[in-house]
Amino acid sequence: MLIDIDLDAIKHHIHTHTDLRELVHEALLFDRVDSTNRMALEMASQGMPGGVAIFAEAQDKGRGRMNRTWFSPRGFNLYLSLLIRPHQAPREFPLFSMATAMALIVAIERVTHLRASLKWPNDIFLNQKKVAGILLESVSDGGQAPPLVIGIGVNVNVSTFPEALTPIATSLRIASGVRVDRNIFALTLLDTLAEQFKRLNKEGPAPLLAALRQQCRTLGQRVHVATPKQAWEGIAEAIQEDGALVLKMGDGTKRTLYMGDVTHLREEPLPQTMGWPE
Ligand code: BTN
Repeated sequence: MLIDIDLDAIKHHIHTHTDLRELVHEALLFDRVDSTNRMALEMASQGMPGGVAIFAEAQDKGRGRMNRTWFSPRGFNLYLSLLIRPHQAPREFPLFSMATAMALIVAIERVTHLRASLKWPNDIFLNQKKVAGILLESVSDGGQAPPLVIGIGVNVNVSTFPEALTPIATSLRIASGVRVDRNIFALTLLDTLAEQFKRLNKEGPAPLLAALRQQCRTLGQRVHVATPKQAWEGIAEAIQEDGALVLKMGDGTKRTLYMGDVTHLREEPLPQTMGWPE
């Protein structure tokens, strides 16, 4: 039996948790949208203040990184976009992707007792397969505090994927062997997001990045990193304070990458589409 996302429970949780209220003061739930990120960006460009969480039961055009689509069937998973207006400058926004990755890893552990890992920059893996992804988007609205939309897709209970995704995608249900209550996961994730963002704002990026390096499966690996313009191959040596990946190339030189699609060599590259028509 499918259990719907319970907006009243989410609102009550926000109302009763002070730390969370600092991050989110309004929660919206839609039955079916094209993309929660697109909606959040539209709200931002209309001047909506930060602190909004947009959930959807299904997405027709869920957006993934690198122009992929995000597989978004109804009723099984979590599709969430957070609209915030951080006090940090836009060049520091990638740190929120790192904080979100940490929040996902902690939420997955609290709910399923499974230890997930990060594939730089923001893929969350369980048992060598992707379970969740993060898409940061922004729009210039000319205001003083530029908006940041943090899109989060988590494969919670889906048990079958399209053929192209089957070898590379998993869900909390597949990995844990039991159905996961989407509402409990959603509330836990809101809590861990609030915890990680608060820590980032109070203590800066150092503790967050130290914790994340421990959970990062990319470090120490020989990787292929594709950026829209060029591809690089080398050993993933470090994650810098600003979230960038440092690659040690074959000739000993180092290259700092701020974005890209990482393939751990010996893994299959991601297919161009992460979704399919329902
Ligand atoms: C990725 O790993 O490629 C990022 C996937 C992000 C998917 C989420 S689902 C909720 C939000 N709305 C979207 O259209 N995309 C993000």
